[in-house]
Amino acid sequence: MTMKNHQRLLRGPLFTCLDDPGEDAVPLTGTTRYLEDGAIWIVDGHIHAVEPFDVLADRLPAGVEIVDYRDKLMMPGFIDSHVHYVQLDIMASYGRELLDWLNDYTFPAECRFADAGHAQAGAERFLDEMLRVGTTTAQVFCSSHPVSVDSFFAAAQRRQLRMIAGKVLMDRHAPDALTDDTLGGVRDSERLIADWHGRDRLAYTLTPRFAPTSTREQLDAVGGVLRNAPDLYLQTHLSENRGEIAWVAELFPETRDYLDVYERHGLVGPRSTFAHGIHLDEGQRRRLAQGGANIAFCPTSNLFLGSGLMDRLACRDAGLATSLASDVGGGTSLSGLGTLQGAYQVGALLGQPLTGWQGFYRLTLGNARALHLDDKIGCLQQGFEADIAVLDPESTPLMARRLSQATTLSERLFALMMLGDDRTVAATWANGRLAHQRDAAAA
Ligand code: GUN
Ligand code: FE
Repeated sequence: MTMKNHQRLLRGPLFTCLDDPGEDAVPLTGTTRYLEDGAIWIVDGHIHAVEPFDVLADRLPAGVEIVDYRDKLMMPGFIDSHVHYVQLDIMASYGRELLDWLNDYTFPAECRFADAGHAQAGAERFLDEMLRVGTTTAQVFCSSHPVSVDSFFAAAQRRQLRMIAGKVLMDRHAPDALTDDTLGGVRDSERLIADWHGRDRLAYTLTPRFAPTSTREQLDAVGGVLRNAPDLYLQTHLSENRGEIAWVAELFPETRDYLDVYERHGLVGPRSTFAHGIHLDEGQRRRLAQGGANIAFCPTSNLFLGSGLMDRLACRDAGLATSLASDVGGGTSLSGLGTLQGAYQVGALLGQPLTGWQGFYRLTLGNARALHLDDKIGCLQQGFEADIAVLDPESTPLMARRLSQATTLSERLFALMMLGDDRTVAATWANGRLAHQRDAAAA
């Protein structure tokens, strides 16, 4: 895939995190970098240098194209640690909590992904939307149909995106059209791993939907695959909703709690992402932390489905990594900025308001770390892959006015985070190529 790119220089203000800025109003020293007139020099899809424009201008070979973003703000491409591409069509479906929402809306929508044409069109539509909101990497649930995974990876590969995805495994408690044969589903996953894992910028994530929809035998087989290939990812759901937790206790009476189901089958490891993790106690948080796993905090979904308030700082205190995710179609926004607005609101209700520093860290380098990709993405620095979100502080009259009143970078970042949406993303670059332009001229 390594096509020779033209070299390019993107010129303009830029912001990147170099480390976790902490939770205080002032970021920890050395954790952030802001350049007022900065430049990102891109060579062959990678960042060759990030410096003040003046410094790079002198070093630039003749003829390198300079893209002028002097009225914008460049950041690393956003990362979404948990999203269902097969649920776009049921976003904003009214009036249910988790288990009824799954049965009434989600499963019928996922059934349609048995059809290759539907899956291919759905994958393209989803990736178009991700790029429109500045998201260049995500960990993605497909449906239980292998064709939904092949379609997704093929579309992501064509666009040169770094994506992690997997086939949903579920061998019970779902419509026949969605349920796997217990071991057949695992064999299908192994075929998909062989075809896609490690190819170009793609990686595979084992995807047992959640404890209620897999038998012990299926969970055991998934644990076996993970044991033999520790570089694979794993994603599932955990302790999202009270009704769900009670159901798990009924289905697995031998376990001490919900997390124990996953522990018994060897599914809690450093590359495991557990979506939600709202209703956890201190001990469960510590066990997850010891396993090296991360909790995907999905605030707009948790608010929309009435699931509860995820205590982010309790996770931090337990040493448990959290990532940040949209969880569309439970989530109400694909936008990382929309997710940050939800995260702020949940935090406000818990007396732990999120700063702009911490918010943008989570969306970029923090999520990259949770997914073990922080040597490749999440930071504007030499050697990283050139995935870049170009934000427009004047994307609406209101945003322009509000930001004109902001006197510090801290205030600007926070207002951008709270007021931003898809309009705020002027352009998205992926692997050094322009992948989305908001104001592209009509054909
Ligand atoms: N738990 C099991 N499946 C799902 C899903 O598709 N979305 C959410 N939010 N929770 C789940
Ligand atoms: Fe989910």
